[in-house]
Amino acid sequence: MCGIAGYYGSGNTCEVLLNSLKRLEYRGYDSAGIAVSSDFEIHIKKAVGELDDIKSDLDLKDKKSKAGIGHTRWATHGEVSEENAHPHVSCCGRFALVHNGILENWEEMKRELGEHRFTSETDSEVVVHFIEQRSQDGCVETAIREFMKEAKGSYSIAVLDSKREEVFVMKNGSPMAIGIGSDGLFFASDIHAFSEHTENVVFLDDNEYATVRGSELVVKNHKGKIVDKQPKTIKWSKKSPNKKNFEHYMYKEINEIPSVLRKLEKTLDRSQKNDLNKFRDMLKEHEKIIFTASGTSYHASLLGVYFLQKAGIEAQALIASEFKNYERADDKTLLVPVSQSGETKDVIEAVNHSRKKGADIASITNVPHSTIERMSDVNLRINAGQEICVAATKTFINQLYTIMRLSSSIDGANYNADLANALKNTIQKNEDKIKELAEELSDEEDLYIIGKGEAYPIAREIALKLKEIAYIHAEGMMAGELKHGTLALIEDNTPVVSLIPDGNSSIASNVKEVESRGANTIKLSPHNKDFWFPERNESFVFASTILGFLLTYWIAKRNGLPIDKPRNLAKSVTVQ
Ligand code: M6R
Repeated sequence: MCGIAGYYGSGNTCEVLLNSLKRLEYRGYDSAGIAVSSDFEIHIKKAVGELDDIKSDLDLKDKKSKAGIGHTRWATHGEVSEENAHPHVSCCGRFALVHNGILENWEEMKRELGEHRFTSETDSEVVVHFIEQRSQDGCVETAIREFMKEAKGSYSIAVLDSKREEVFVMKNGSPMAIGIGSDGLFFASDIHAFSEHTENVVFLDDNEYATVRGSELVVKNHKGKIVDKQPKTIKWSKKSPNKKNFEHYMYKEINEIPSVLRKLEKTLDRSQKNDLNKFRDMLKEHEKIIFTASGTSYHASLLGVYFLQKAGIEAQALIASEFKNYERADDKTLLVPVSQSGETKDVIEAVNHSRKKGADIASITNVPHSTIERMSDVNLRINAGQEICVAATKTFINQLYTIMRLSSSIDGANYNADLANALKNTIQKNEDKIKELAEELSDEEDLYIIGKGEAYPIAREIALKLKEIAYIHAEGMMAGELKHGTLALIEDNTPVVSLIPDGNSSIASNVKEVESRGANTIKLSPHNKDFWFPERNESFVFASTILGFLLTYWIAKRNGLPIDKPRNLAKSVTVQ
């Protein structure tokens, strides 16, 4: 994970970097650091904690500098500490470096480097010493090419050279975008980091590096051959995301569901119509449909399988981190990666792997121009806007909607054309009851959520949210599976939330099973007058999900938890 940023230009380097890091914080918030080069020396500051709390410790605004790099960390190698925070500096002090990814052969490289003063436990520090050692004939590019040849693993790296006051970046497996602005060049893990400065972006591909000549960007491949890269123009709102009057992004993003859904509906009917049709045709034409995704996006994929099977299309869903152990992709396969960020490493690996075996790729993503979008034959954007809270909420709803529309374009199944309004009412009309329920459940340590059919993935999704944001051990399961083991854990007052759509009477006996063992059952169902549900049953998956999200939010708020940035997590998981 981790977010990296770099800048070369006439603006205030420190200020540009701090703004970029703020926008990259969703990639990790254990520690942060920046380095600028001024008077041919590296000046560096780093600290442990979230950016808002440590911003003043990273202040280098008084240094006149045209080049700098920054980093926000999610720890992989080495504990969360100032020593392990990036940037790392080479022994002679000429180079500073930031890294996102995992270097697999770092120990071997470290041994081969011999005498260097290592001050951290990270894999990344090896790279800065390597660059120093191999640049001894003065040529940094030679060192970079040698590193790219010898390194195993994934990286996007920015190197600051204080001698030449330059920034170099390189990429293999982790993202690197470069913004070309009137006041300089902006390097970052994602395009939002510099969206306020420019609309012109170059994306590095694997095994490419870039450097600045004069003020021009030069991109080369790992052999040193110049690659002609045409910048893409990206249209975006220049507004920085903010919480408005909401205390937390999670709550704001849940409340945005109706409006982002409306936006998605429109684009699927208009600007994305051709892609929707192309996607539909590809689903029909391929023998094998394999969804792949992680976390919340995997739960959306499970629903994708459910809907497509109903529409007569054979499909399966594989968790991306286990993809290679279970897949049988071939040239008759359509791989459907689903990913909010479009940058999840395990999903990217599954795409690469399937592509090599001849599969076609039709993806569903949120972040525009993401790696997965760029790797796909066709892509549908869920258009939910930037999601800041680590928990995926509005994006899950829009993933579900996109998947439902795809399957209904195949079998003509009904979907609620007034879903956005129905969900607005779901939020407003249930809030008080959900707060009451949150109060009742907030001290629980274990919780079970059960569902069948289309409600099963939702049970898993709600459980994931309760773990991630409310720190409650929650299990989302198929209701019919209780009697095969889990029932042994049900005792007096064990909370069990059951998801019961209209017409799904088969779950009733499972609810009875837990009730007769003393469970405290909470029925999320249109038949339970404690809750308001939209009339149309196709809305059930959406409405019950929202109730689960709100319940999670209010429990976490009641317990004073760091809702938007839960411990140990990051929004975009760019390591395997
Ligand atoms: O960006 P992606 O959709 O590929 O991310 C996948 C998971 O990391 C993500 O859904 C994660 O499970 C969420 N934080 C859950 O709320």
